[in-house]
Amino acid sequence: MKSLSLRTGLLILLACGVMAVGSASAVAQDAAATYKGKCAMCHGADGKGSPTGLKMGAHDFTSDEVQKQADLQLSVIIAKGKGKMPAYEGKLKDTEIKDLVAYIRGLAKK
Ligand code: HEC
Repeated sequence: MKSLSLRTGLLILLACGVMAVGSASAVAQDAAATYKGKCAMCHGADGKGSPTGLKMGAHDFTSDEVQKQADLQLSVIIAKGKGKMPAYEGKLKDTEIKDLVAYIRGLAKK
C-alpha cells in the first residue's frame, strides 16, 4: 500500500514537470510570434535593427548598450515607448512584455 501511494505521488510529480516544461516553451513561442509580428519590422528578426528602425534610432539589441539596461528599464521602454518607439501599454499584457524582454536577452546569446 505504501509503495503504491509513493508511485502515484511520483507519477503526479512527473506529470506536473511535463506540463511545466510544455507551458514554458509555449510562452517562448508566443514571445517569438509577438516579436516577429510587432517588433521585427523596426528591430530586425535578429534584434540588430532593420534599416527603417535604425534610421529612427533603434539600437542593436545584442549590443552592451541595450543588454546592460535592467529588465525594468527595457520593460518601461516597451510599455511607454521612447522617441519613435511606439508604446505597447494596453496592447500587450505585462506578462507579454516580460516575455519579450526575456526574448530580447535571448537574441544577444545567439
Ligand atoms: C516603428 C518602429 C518600432 C517598432 C514597431 C518597435 N520599436 Fe522598439 N524602438 C524603436 C526605436 C526607434 C527605439 C529607440 C528609441 C530611442 O532611444 O529614442 C526603440 C527602442 C526599443 C528598446 C530599447 C532599446 C533600444 O533599442 O534603444 C526596446 C527594448 C524595444 N524598442 C523593444 C521593442 C519591442 C519589444 C517591440 C515590439 C513589441 C518594439 N520595440 C517595436 C522602434 C520601434
